[in-house]
Amino acid sequence: MRGFSRWAAKYAVPALAICALMEVPVGANASDEFNSGYSGRDIAFRLDKGNCLACHVIPGGEAPGNIGPPLIAMKSRYSSRELIRKLIWDPELIKPGITMPPFGKNQILSESEIERLVDFIWAL
Ligand code: HEC
Repeated sequence: MRGFSRWAAKYAVPALAICALMEVPVGANASDEFNSGYSGRDIAFRLDKGNCLACHVIPGGEAPGNIGPPLIAMKSRYSSRELIRKLIWDPELIKPGITMPPFGKNQILSESEIERLVDFIWAL
């Protein structure tokens, strides 16, 4: 029980906080007019963009969380780039009940930011 409470305090509570923050649609980011121009890697790593490191180990990323699985060897586990795109756009479409924010559906990232991000993730 003690172990579980410590786990919950360390991972589940921050994860919920992150989701709450990220599920607030950020209108200004949504349109490609306001597209950041960051690389896919920057979009994955930056706290003000995807912040994927909050939950995933990603090669080259520092201080990752481990709420989600490490993002490595994607091509060996997913049959298409489109599947990864869909998963990042709205995880519910692929994995119902997932604690990952819907980056496209909630307009956390613009469509072209998602394209660059998916190129980066798909190549891992
Ligand atoms: C709040 C935590 C959280 C954040 C932030 C998050 N994810 Fe996830 N992600 C998860 C969880 C949990 C899973 C695993 C769900 C499952 O398999 O049931 C997952 C699964 C994935 C998968 C499938 C991995 C596999 O091995 O099957 C990909 C790809 C992915 N996430 C990409 C991303 C990207 C890209 C970002 C940043 C834009 C991101 N995630 C941000 C929690 C998160």
